Amino acid sequence: MRIVVLTGAGISAESGLSTFRDPDGVWMKMDPIKLATPEAFAADPELVQGFYNARRAQLREVEPNAAHLALARLEKELGRDFMLVTQNVDDLHERGGSREVVHMHGQLRQAWCRACDARVEWNDDLSSATACPECGAAGHMRPDIVWFGEMPYRMEEIMRTLDTCDLFVAIGTSGAVYPAAGFVEIAANAGAETLELNLQPSDGTVFFDSHRHGPATEIVPAFVDEILGPA
Ligand code: OAD
Repeated sequence: MRIVVLTGAGISAESGLSTFRDPDGVWMKMDPIKLATPEAFAADPELVQGFYNARRAQLREVEPNAAHLALARLEKELGRDFMLVTQNVDDLHERGGSREVVHMHGQLRQAWCRACDARVEWNDDLSSATACPECGAAGHMRPDIVWFGEMPYRMEEIMRTLDTCDLFVAIGTSGAVYPAAGFVEIAANAGAETLELNLQPSDGTVFFDSHRHGPATEIVPAFVDEILGPA
C-alpha cells in the first residue's frame, strides 16, 4: 500500500509550537501580511528576520512527540511506498527519526542566499548584515521559508505521488492554505482512500472519506499501529 501523509502545525502543537489559526495561533496575534510575504521582507527585513529568528530559537526548546515518532516508524517499515510531506518549517519530523521529509513550505533551519542561490543549514540568527558562507555577499540572506505569494517546493514530485497513492492522510492541518488544502481532492480523484486525523473537523473535512478526531499524540500512533501492528 502506497501512503502519502501531509502534516501541518497541529502535529507539533503538543511539542509546544503554536499552530497558526487556533484561538492562540500565530496568525491570530500577528499579521501574516506584515511577516510572511516577499513584500513584507522588502519593506522591513529586520522585522521579518526577527520573527523567524525567534521561531528558529524556539526549536531548541521543543522535542518531537509520539506522533512524529510514529510517522518515522511508518517510513522505516514502508520505505519507498511512503511519502511524508509537511507544511511545517520546524525540524521535529527529522528529530523524530524521519529521513525523507518533503518540506513544501521550506525550513527554519535553512537559509537562502539570494545573491548566489545557495541554500545552507542555519541555526543562528539572520540579519540584513549576514554574509553568505558560500559566496561571501552580505545582505542577501533570507530564511528559506515559502511566503504567501511564492511557489511551494517540490510540487511536481508531490503531485506525481498523489496520483499513484492508495491512501492519503492529512494530520493536524486546517485545510485553509492551498495548494496543500487541495491534495485530498487530487488523491481522491486518482482513486485513493482519504483519511483526516485532526483535533477537530478541519475546513476541508467534507473531502475526506473518514476522520479521526483527537490529539495527534494519541490518534497518529493508533493509526500507525493499525497499519503495521503494535510497535
Ligand atoms: P493551522 O494553524 O491552520 O491548522 C492547525 C490544525 O491543527 C487545526 O485544524 C487544529 O484543529 C489542528 N490541531 C491543533 N492542535 C492539534 C493536536 N494536538 N492534534 C491534532 N490536531 C491539532 O496550521 P496549518 O494547517 O499547518 O505557512 O497551516 C498551513 C500553513 O499556514 C502553514 O504551513 C503556514 C501558515 O501560514 C507558512 O508559514 C508558509
